[in-house]
Amino acid sequence: MIQFQDVTKTFGSRTAVNRASFNIDRPQMVGIIGRSGAGKSTLLRMINRLTPATSGQILFEGRDILSLRGGMMRRWQRDCAMVFQQFNLVPRLDVVTNVMLGRLNGHGTLKSLFNVFSADDVNSALAALDRLGIAQEATKRAEELSGGQQQRVAIARALMQDPHMILADEPIASLDPMNAKIVMDSLRQIHERDNKIVLCNLHTLDTARSYCDRVIGMRDGFIVFDGKPDELTTEAAREIYGADESFNEAATSTAIDTGQSGFKESAGAMAPAAAAV
Ligand SMILES: Nc1ncnc2c1ncn2[C@@H]1O[C@H](COP(=O)(O)OP(=O)(O)OP(=O)(O)O)[C@@H](O)[C@H]1O
Ligand SMILES: [Mg+2]
Repeated sequence: MIQFQDVTKTFGSRTAVNRASFNIDRPQMVGIIGRSGAGKSTLLRMINRLTPATSGQILFEGRDILSLRGGMMRRWQRDCAMVFQQFNLVPRLDVVTNVMLGRLNGHGTLKSLFNVFSADDVNSALAALDRLGIAQEATKRAEELSGGQQQRVAIARALMQDPHMILADEPIASLDPMNAKIVMDSLRQIHERDNKIVLCNLHTLDTARSYCDRVIGMRDGFIVFDGKPDELTTEAAREIYGADESFNEAATSTAIDTGQSGFKESAGAMAPAAAAV
């Protein structure tokens, strides 16, 4: 599906990503871990062309992503939806409109925000919000919602793009453990139910282990680990984090209790548990 071949990004004399090569050949949920400055965000941002690569190739189903221009590039950006740590919603717009913004790329030009959306768009946005368990918040302004709710709106917006993959850059870094769990559960369910690639930058090892099929570890721009969560030994973690013998995994823990799901499957939709927010 996606192939990285010797992908490098330099900022002046600083090499943020150094000859990264890996393939994702089936829909996987992949966690990218590493300490601050390791190159995780740059790696994700090169995929959807928010950051131009300096050299190397990224192929999606054989197509050269880095050479796409104009409408083809915008189409690609819609195909790989980004979810950000800070949600990136429009605070004063209502929730349902924020979700419908996920459709805008598909309309070509941004005529007027208020007449480009069809009844069909509204229904799809409400369905996406329902899936994330927050349809009841649809008419509120985004800024009125809690952080956890806002991130679920951002994921609903990503779903509206009907993307091939979801790129999530530290989606839970600003959330408390309970909301972090709800957001990670929803990303996992999108991966499993919709068969999408989810690439997710995470600060914490335990989250990567619990939710991801595969973990890529970065250090100083290099990929230093690429394997299954159970291959991620303390030794391997030390290598990724550049830590010595005193390295303690608890230092990278978010304390998400994965034993109890914040989501339950109901009538084919994701619904939050009563205590969700
Ligand atoms: N726009 C930029 N201009 C200059 N240097 C940059 C830019 N973006 C990133 N860098 C540098 O590239 C390196 C990798 O940054 P990146 O943001 O990808 O790291 P990260 O692993 O996402 O870190 P964090 O966990 O703090 O988000 C860092 O040294 C950073 O300072
Ligand atoms: Mg980052």
